Amino acid sequence: MEKGKKRNGFGSGIGFILAAAGSAIGLGNLWSFPYKTSANGGAAFVILYILSVIVIGSIVMIAEMYIGKRAQANPISAYKKTHKNLGWLGLFAIIIPFVIVCYYSVLGGYTVKFTLNSFTQSNTDILPFVGNVGDVILFTAIFIVLAVIIVMGGIKNGIEKASKILMPALFFIIVAIAIYSLCLGEGVVDGLDFYLNPNFAELGFEGVLAAMSQAFFSLSLGMGIIVSYGSYAGKDIKVGKSAVMIAIFDTLVALLAGLAIFPAIFHHKATTGMELETSGILLMFETMPIIFNSMGTVGQIVSFFFFAMVVIAAITSVISLMEVATQFIIQKFKIHRKKAILIIAIITFSLSIPIGISLGLSLNGDSTLTIFGYNFLDFLDSITNVVLMPLGALGACIALGWFAFPAKKRSDNFNPMFLYRSLDAEGLKLGWFGKIFAVMLKYVTPVLIAVVEVFGVVEFIFPQNAVGDRVFNANGLGLVLVAYAICAIAVAIYFIFFKNKDTGVNADEIDIEHQLALKKEQKEIDKTN
Ligand code: PHE
Repeated sequence: MEKGKKRNGFGSGIGFILAAAGSAIGLGNLWSFPYKTSANGGAAFVILYILSVIVIGSIVMIAEMYIGKRAQANPISAYKKTHKNLGWLGLFAIIIPFVIVCYYSVLGGYTVKFTLNSFTQSNTDILPFVGNVGDVILFTAIFIVLAVIIVMGGIKNGIEKASKILMPALFFIIVAIAIYSLCLGEGVVDGLDFYLNPNFAELGFEGVLAAMSQAFFSLSLGMGIIVSYGSYAGKDIKVGKSAVMIAIFDTLVALLAGLAIFPAIFHHKATTGMELETSGILLMFETMPIIFNSMGTVGQIVSFFFFAMVVIAAITSVISLMEVATQFIIQKFKIHRKKAILIIAIITFSLSIPIGISLGLSLNGDSTLTIFGYNFLDFLDSITNVVLMPLGALGACIALGWFAFPAKKRSDNFNPMFLYRSLDAEGLKLGWFGKIFAVMLKYVTPVLIAVVEVFGVVEFIFPQNAVGDRVFNANGLGLVLVAYAICAIAVAIYFIFFKNKDTGVNADEIDIEHQLALKKEQKEIDKTN
């Protein structure tokens, strides 16, 4: 086999879209979106969320996908290609998903446990489970192993294949459960009212920020994921159309999740009078099991499919989180995929243990294992969501919008139409949207992202107290400082270790497999001789 004959990447456009949608659709859709919506003004939040997806999400997604696609390489090499001095953005883009995967795997473990619990009666009490260190470690491990098996198969035979089966299954299950839930009768209307009743006063500026940052997280933006998946996209894959499909799919599933959850909660309330938790981790792992439990045998079946769906959503997100670092390690160190993913898995697992223990303790009201007053999971989640992801997204806009196509004429550097023509000539064909995209990418979206970053940070350092005054919060400041320290360390590592070094491209993996196959053949020959 000769180099260049076989591409290392997705086999089809639909496979690519399903894989990227698999990354996007995760716990953020099934769980945080519904409760953030209900807490921030219902349909008012939904409208703002959709606006955020359009003016920020889709622009960043197209930018990241295209940065990857044009480079056909890992994020560091891809950002280097936008400008020789921007490779550090790529390392940044690899570190963020790595931080996320460590805590996301703990929650993934919870989802596996609750799926298996569906058929036992004692499944409603979350606290003994999360407080049981052995159980938490065991289920986190099971979850990580499932993800590793998929990533080991590579892009086409692992990630794409799995997504093509799992994503339609997820969609089918969520539609079925939403229909079931909407047909429960008593209380359903109250549930819809709680979820979607528009209340613009309740939304406020905080709600606007929440909608914007939810859009980043939900679409897996602001880090290397879409860059990496985009790098595996072949020439014939259309960036604009794919991004739109992914965004629509992602938003649809988020909306459906609320329709599956809230009518059931309010039906339960109407029939039993019980008030259940409607937000946070308890919504998924306490409220839902209590409801399923009250439904008898049908409830057991619904519970199984519900949590299996959550496992699917979490797995297809975690494989994308793992793939970014795996891709980089394969290409930088020229090692086999199996070795690379094992290294990643071992580090992920080791780091997930203290996170799992810290979360379990804090859910049980014990704050011995916290940092600046946050349990480790909340801490890492806040660092990535509030500080790192907006920065990563800003980096993508600036790299492609301001540095990828330097102009001879100075004024052209400020002209979005020059950017439009350069992108179009290079191959990013967006039709009528192309010019709008260039203006958004260069000016509008970066400003909006900067607003999200600045106000998000202010919110942590000077949160509002009960009477609405802003007060200084040293813990919040600590969190923000740690986040920026991570950025500084990433940049330093880049300049010390990777700046002038070869960081590899996707085609390397084919070479590595090829070498390995040759070696194996040689061994066989030696053996028979
Ligand atoms: N988008 C996923 C979700 O909504 C989570 C995720 C975030 C996955 C970031 C990858 C990267 O849950």
